Amino acid sequence: MGDANDRVMIFDTTLRDGEQSPGIALDVGEKLEIAEQLARLGVDVIEAGFPIASDGDFEAVEAIARAVRGPVVAGLARTAFGDIDRAWEAVRHAERPRIHIFLATSKIHMEKKLRMSPEQVKAEAAASVARARGYTTDIEFSPEDGSRSDPDFLVEVLQIAVDAGATVLNIPDTVGYGVPEEYGRLIRYLIDHVKGDYIVSTHCHDDLGLAVANSLAGVANGARQVECAVNGIGERAGNAALEEIVMAIRTRGDYFAGLETGVRTEELARTSRLVSRLTGYPVQYNKAVVGRNAFAHESGIHQHGVLSDRETYEIIDAASVGQEAAQIVLGKHSGRHAFADSLEKMGLSLQGDALNQAFVRFKELADRKVEITDADLEAIVAEELGAGAVHRYSMVSIDVHGGTAVTPSARVVLADGDVKVEGEAQGNGMIDAAIASIADATGVSGTLVDFNVSSVTGGRDALGDVVVQLESGGLRASGRGVATDVVEASARAYLNAVNKIVRLREQPEARDVESGP
Ligand code: KIV
Ligand code: ZN
Repeated sequence: MGDANDRVMIFDTTLRDGEQSPGIALDVGEKLEIAEQLARLGVDVIEAGFPIASDGDFEAVEAIARAVRGPVVAGLARTAFGDIDRAWEAVRHAERPRIHIFLATSKIHMEKKLRMSPEQVKAEAAASVARARGYTTDIEFSPEDGSRSDPDFLVEVLQIAVDAGATVLNIPDTVGYGVPEEYGRLIRYLIDHVKGDYIVSTHCHDDLGLAVANSLAGVANGARQVECAVNGIGERAGNAALEEIVMAIRTRGDYFAGLETGVRTEELARTSRLVSRLTGYPVQYNKAVVGRNAFAHESGIHQHGVLSDRETYEIIDAASVGQEAAQIVLGKHSGRHAFADSLEKMGLSLQGDALNQAFVRFKELADRKVEITDADLEAIVAEELGAGAVHRYSMVSIDVHGGTAVTPSARVVLADGDVKVEGEAQGNGMIDAAIASIADATGVSGTLVDFNVSSVTGGRDALGDVVVQLESGGLRASGRGVATDVVEASARAYLNAVNKIVRLREQPEARDVESGP
């Protein structure tokens, strides 16, 4: 009885309680697709719907019962015989059919909703289970609002249900009111006081964000079935999230004393994506286990740790839940280790000063751009490599003013070793003014024989990638610049070209390689 074995049954109610979420309306084909995937995932029970609720619900439950092999297929029913008969009609073709009957037992539900006395509720429980017993031996009974019901009354009703033939006693925290310690104690109390051969199940709603914690407290106290839904969808704030329940039991096998589920965890991410796509309910980025950030590390300290040993900051192997392995997301919190590692993975090798300068550029960009893509990295490295071995000048700041009513002007501050040099100029446009201010600061002017702007990736925060060719005093050099702002990218490209011209002037032997025809 109760916790006699080590297997925790996973009862998936995505297609019943989950489908009750506002705005979700799955057609029969979509429900079948989800049910097939749930079978692949290895859940023990699929609650396919509430057959009396509508013809569409009936059709879907019947189709799933006929087609899906492996899990038990359950249909929900109130205590009315018409409900139970209809539920049986829908599930009877299943390999293993189940009828799931629910009846409220809390004072408020009995008085205000059912308008039944406790004695009537007990009689109703006995009659409904007996009716279902005429069809099948697999009967689940749920005292709705169980967590707010009087525990001794619950024991009475549940004993009646077991004596009439119920084999699973599900204890709903219908309104998400329970807290773990209290809910766990209730489960233990019921197991200790209801006699017979049955297993106890949890069904917790998430109104206080405690659905998973409450369910696990139930398991720790002897429940051997957990009702849950993929991505935690369900009435109001939803149900306990299936993926969290399964991974908590698996990851904390030490705490849950060797308990296990039959779920093939590598299917979790795929199942989550399917349910999200068909229901139209997005999965929050930071959702445990299946969220897109569940295995992403942005802080430099975390990235460093994960690169040296994944387990420093990960308790689940991403591959074990069908997610992509540890993703190092380069952003403004990333450190040099992660930056260098990403470059290396892309086959880009920078060392010493070049790596330091590229890292500085990366940090500048990351302050303005949320996520740095591989293409962005390539562009930064190309800019750095293209700048030549020695940068005489580097950009400190550039201010550009422009618009339709003013003459565009720019003011630049460059570092020439330890010295700051400044330049100011006006131009035909903001790019022209920016370039002229660099010419003013460096004294290197010339003709732009080529000027090419492209964007590294799509989106409003895409990096602008500018390549220029500058001809100055008979020398020609190319320069490249990337920045989220195209004027700044142009200025950087020009400055790169100026650095090369300066170098060619100072080291004439380099001309053969770098100067144009
Ligand atoms: O939340 C609830 O009480 C239910 C029952 C029908 C099990 O969904
Ligand atoms: Zn529910």
